[in-house]
Amino acid sequence: MSQASAPGKVILFGEHAVVYGQPALAVPVTQVHADVEIEASSKPGIWIDAPDVHLSSGLDALASSHPIAATVKNTLSALGFSPSPLGRGDRGEGIEIRIRSTIPVASGLGSGAAVSVAIIRALAGYLDRHLTDERVSAIAYETEKLHHGTPSGIDNSVVTYAKPVYFVKGQGVETFHVGRPFTIVIGDTGISASTRESVGDVRMLWRAGRSHVESLFAAIGSIVRTARQLIQDGTPRGLGPLMDENHALLQEMTVSSPELDRLVAAGRSAGAWGAKMSGGGRGGNMIALVGEDDAEPVADALRDAGIYDQSAVFFF
Ligand code: MEV
Repeated sequence: MSQASAPGKVILFGEHAVVYGQPALAVPVTQVHADVEIEASSKPGIWIDAPDVHLSSGLDALASSHPIAATVKNTLSALGFSPSPLGRGDRGEGIEIRIRSTIPVASGLGSGAAVSVAIIRALAGYLDRHLTDERVSAIAYETEKLHHGTPSGIDNSVVTYAKPVYFVKGQGVETFHVGRPFTIVIGDTGISASTRESVGDVRMLWRAGRSHVESLFAAIGSIVRTARQLIQDGTPRGLGPLMDENHALLQEMTVSSPELDRLVAAGRSAGAWGAKMSGGGRGGNMIALVGEDDAEPVADALRDAGIYDQSAVFFF
């Protein structure tokens, strides 16, 4: 048997602009995770069970564009195996891939990337092969394209390395030092939203008025660079106003929503140092930066503001 897990993630600063070459900062969220187990099975072929998304199917019955099928096939091919002989197994057996995840789907917490990374590592482990983090992230990136169309690659990177990352598309991943831990509260609108759609809408906006939208991207890039410095210097309180500014720029890019704005406002009124939407937007999650003692009151305010699930408190 082989097992692997991968964490969720939040983007602290820089979503959307990162698709256009600006930097972004993201951190893993280990409190939620995707877990994959693989073992030999009496069923022939490769069988996939993912009860959280009501999937129980042979690999062959899934379209090749299905993200799980694509991840399995791309991983096998990267490892030099082909699905059919593998499915027969050494002793005439198949294999069963069981996927569980506590990461809400389509909420900005990187569930797709985490499922991919856990599948890739579990398969490599089952076949006694090693893949470098770079290879794992590259295979997961291929699946991200199926999920999101034109992903920057930040989700698969932060989930693979499971460390805070400073990410610039096409330039590899820089991990960085966190000078002093800080506390983030994550609030879930409970609304599933398609990153593909919000990324597509930003593209339309950009095509309609490149110079204006590029100035918004550049402003976000400059927020990200300042934020990285503050985090490294161990002076995280200054991140609050930067979150507020980043949120306003995302609103201007039309990717926030009334529900996200309501949670952001509720977090700020309850004493957060700053708050913003996080990820693709239109639904999904927002984050609030809080002093340690304010985590509970801010989480309560987010619950009162009508969020669907309990807001989570995470410490970085
Ligand atoms: C999604 O988590 C972040 C976006 O910037 C898209 C991407 O970077 O691929 C919205």
